[in-house]
Amino acid sequence: MSPVENNNLVLSRNKKRSCAYHSFLSVCRAKQGRVNAVIRLGHTLMRKEKIFHHFFADHSLRAVAAHLAFFSLKLPYEYDNPVYLDRSLNEEEAREILGLFERRIAERLPLAYLTQEATYLGRRFYVNEQVLVPRSLMNTRFEEFLARISWENHRVLDLCAGSGCIGISLALMNPRLQVDLADISAEALKVAEVNVERFSLSARVHCIESDLFSRIEGKYDLIISNPPYVSDYEYQWQPPEIKKEPALALKGGVDGMDLVNRIWVEAREYLNPKGILVAEVGYAATRRLKWRYPRVALEGVCYKKPEEAGKKGIWKKIARWSDLPFEWSGMMDGVVVCEREQLPLELSRKNDPLRSWLFRTSRLIQRLCRFFREN
Ligand SMILES: C[S@@+](CC[C@H](N)C(=O)[O-])C[C@H]1O[C@@H](n2cnc3c(N)ncnc32)[C@H](O)[C@@H]1O
Repeated sequence: MSPVENNNLVLSRNKKRSCAYHSFLSVCRAKQGRVNAVIRLGHTLMRKEKIFHHFFADHSLRAVAAHLAFFSLKLPYEYDNPVYLDRSLNEEEAREILGLFERRIAERLPLAYLTQEATYLGRRFYVNEQVLVPRSLMNTRFEEFLARISWENHRVLDLCAGSGCIGISLALMNPRLQVDLADISAEALKVAEVNVERFSLSARVHCIESDLFSRIEGKYDLIISNPPYVSDYEYQWQPPEIKKEPALALKGGVDGMDLVNRIWVEAREYLNPKGILVAEVGYAATRRLKWRYPRVALEGVCYKKPEEAGKKGIWKKIARWSDLPFEWSGMMDGVVVCEREQLPLELSRKNDPLRSWLFRTSRLIQRLCRFFREN
């Protein structure tokens, strides 16, 4: 049961927040409540509780508060429009907005689960708690990926499709594409189906319930995937918002490579001779793959700065891996691109124990430093 209910005076189980909500409601009763003020209140409370931005907008909590307020009031998302900011709020409207703030803070629910929508490449996708909130920055290079393919049958496979945001975006970029969205989770595919309908793509985009390639048939020009690749070690340090997303969508085993390894060796079978595999595998896996398959012409691609991104965030580092010396360690995350002929025939178990040890030790030192700084 939500702590905030319309006819109930309990706005929050947290005393300080409850007090803040009540005083805001009394301002609204006196016909003095404004959208701008409720956003300021939400922002302050979220900042105090050190809420994780969960990749929203420019990682700004003000934008989170503004989005929830605008969503609740069904206003266009023009967070800085003075007409909307100065709009007055009645008590009922304020209660609804405060209810959303409280759920975001107390339950640490990602914003997209509260609004049941997420924007990806400027389009609004339906999402719920069965899918990862769409955010793969591979989208910053979609046009480049499509441009380099020698098309044979125009078939594209979005493996580990979740909400379907990647495959659907590609289908909308090129009307000749026939796209299959594959996922092991039937619940995730229900969300993908909604999105296929939403963008009127049922003639060209199909959902397949499949454990990676187990139920996939035929060959594709492009296999694109954002599989789970968070290692068990990394997962335990993730903020609560991330842990509200399905673990199935994130966890990739002890070293995060369980799914990546399988895709890496099985994709060959499902690609046309000139087809390519594009997979977001994270920084650690990109390096591990390079280590395991030193002779494979594997291309690492960094994300590009999205048009709408601000100064903060990982996309400050814009570079192509191929332009950089391999040892450069500034890249935070990454995508690998590999042509079919280059893909390995079998899995290499070669590991890099020294690097893993260094990685774990540096993480430990970072955490100790943070602990001593904060205490
Ligand atoms: C990181 S999410 C990516 C979702 C979406 N493509 C995106 O970028 O937002 C990974 C997805 O892989 C799916 N998955 C996990 N294990 C799988 C498997 N063995 N076979 C197919 N899909 C799997 C999960 O259900 C989840 O939807």
